[in-house]
Order: sequence, then structure tokens, then C-alpha cells
Amino acid sequence: MAKIGLFYGTQTSNTQTAAELIQKEFGGESVVAVYDIADADASDFDDYDYIIVGCPTWNIGELQSDWEGFFDELDNIEFKGKKVAYFGAGDQVGYADNFLDALGILEEKISELGGTTVGYWSTDGYDFNESKAVRHGNFVGLGIDEDNQSELTQSRIQSWVTQIKGEFGL
Ligand SMILES: Cc1cc2nc3c(=O)[nH]c(=O)nc-3n(C[C@H](O)[C@H](O)[C@H](O)COP(=O)(O)O)c2cc1C
Repeated sequence: MAKIGLFYGTQTSNTQTAAELIQKEFGGESVVAVYDIADADASDFDDYDYIIVGCPTWNIGELQSDWEGFFDELDNIEFKGKKVAYFGAGDQVGYADNFLDALGILEEKISELGGTTVGYWSTDGYDFNESKAVRHGNFVGLGIDEDNQSELTQSRIQSWVTQIKGEFGL
């Protein structure tokens, strides 16, 4: 059985495509099981000590709608003892005051529930004003921007997966 559970939501498939690339970089479905949060249950999280959460930001600083619908379910998940990494798509030009906010919203909630965050990512190379995803000068996870920097997505994912492999200790 896969050791890592990746749970993503998407509206226009950018975060899904990134999820599939992350799975591939880790070595495929024997390593990472991918779930669309629209079809997932809280109990699906119980199978994994290593979790990857993927959520784009929508509607000016909001979670993607399937994650919005799942948000209260998070309270029913035991995150203590689990390592959790975050990624998601955003638009740093069009939504410069709310870039990647969804990552920060989910990370704050899951950390309160006992999850240990891994996969912090430098803000270097991005140009934005405000983001709930920034903690102590870094993003809480990997931001991708298909609207403005799609040429960087693949290399960002490759570097980040190498990083979190180490932080997961796998
Ligand atoms: C109406 C609308 C609102 C958006 N709001 C934000 C936002 O607040 N922050 C942000 O970083 N990106 C925002 N975006 C950009 C999306 O997050 C971006 O296009 C992303 O690639 C979508 O990912 P998905 O295809 O996985 O749904 C918004 C886009 C639209 C069309």
C-alpha cells in the first residue's frame, strides 16, 4: 500500500495536473495514492502518516469549493503524529493581495489539529503583495502559478519533491 496520501481539489485542473506530476516524481501510485477531495472521506486520511494537501485559491482568498465543503470534516481526522506538506495553484499578478491564501488557511487549521508541517518553500522568484501562506518569510508549501509562470512548474515540483522526500524521511 502507498505510504503517502495526496488529497487535492481543483476547479480548472491546474492543481490536479500538479498532483499527478508530484505522484510521478515520487515514483507513481505505489508510493503516492491520489484522492480528489470531492470524493474523499475523513477516514481515507487514517491510512497515511505522510499527507500531501493540494488546494488552489479561489474567489479572492478562499479555498477551492470542494475543500471549502470538506473543511469542517478536518476536525474528524487525527493529524497528531502525521507529517503534512502543502501545495497549490494561484495567480500572483491577478490576485497579488491574496496569493496562495488557501495554503495558509489549510496549514493553519491542520497544524491546530496536530499535523506537523513540512515542505516550506522560499518566496524568492515570486512577485506579490500579501499572502496568508507566508509564515516567517517562507510559504508554508509549494506555490505554482500556471497563469504567469507555467514554465517554472515542472522544475519547482521536482525540487520540492526532492525536499519533502528528505523531510518525510522516506
Ligand atoms: C475568480 C477567480 C478568483 C481567483 N482568486 C485567487 C486568489 O484569491 N488568489 C490566488 O492566488 N489565485 C486566485 N485565482 C487564480 C487561480 O487560483 C488559478 O487560476 C489556479 O491556477 C486555479 O487552479 P485550479 O485549476 O487547480 O483550480 C483566482 C482565479 C479566478 C478566476
